[in-house]
Amino acid sequence: SREELAALLLGRIRDVADYPKPGIVFKDITPLLADPVAFGALTEALAAFATEQGATKVVGLEARGFILAAPVAVRAGLGFVPVRKAGKLPGATLSQSYDLEYGSAEMEIHAEDLTAQDRVLVIDDVLATGGTAEASLRLISRSGATVAGLGVLMELSFLGGASRVRAALDGAPYQAL
Ligand code: PRP
Repeated sequence: SREELAALLLGRIRDVADYPKPGIVFKDITPLLADPVAFGALTEALAAFATEQGATKVVGLEARGFILAAPVAVRAGLGFVPVRKAGKLPGATLSQSYDLEYGSAEMEIHAEDLTAQDRVLVIDDVLATGGTAEASLRLISRSGATVAGLGVLMELSFLGGASRVRAALDGAPYQAL
């Protein structure tokens, strides 16, 4: 069940106090990745989401999103497309900047990796403020492809990221496992 899956996944996420700064509790997913049962169940659930939504491509967000999205793409029989931090992709890119608490950041995608026929499931590990996911969803819309959904392992719900990504999802489903 959903509840059993959530309990399995949550049980493999380690809270690290005062990392990377004092007062921050870091959510470390490496114990989950090291457990083949938990990592397999996560991959399976996200691959089912991709199939249900008729996705044709899976997009992963640098860097931890890559680790989750790549096996999901293979499992669902779909191509994988990376959204990267600015300056890492060698080809022609679309760029989207977004505000951080202090300053701004920019995400990029290879323009030719998506077409108007694609339906794209976006995957990341954590939805915090939602800025990274929102920028990535805008990149997909700007590429001419359709957003099929957004799936994350974990949402830090007290930061309000879910409502922030809703507009960019334009009715497409959002799942936090
Ligand atoms: C983390 C996380 C998400 C993003 C969530 O990535 O993996 O991508 O932050 O934050 P937001 O919802 O407030 O935008 P990080 O920037 O730490 O990059 P990494 O995965 O490369 O370590």
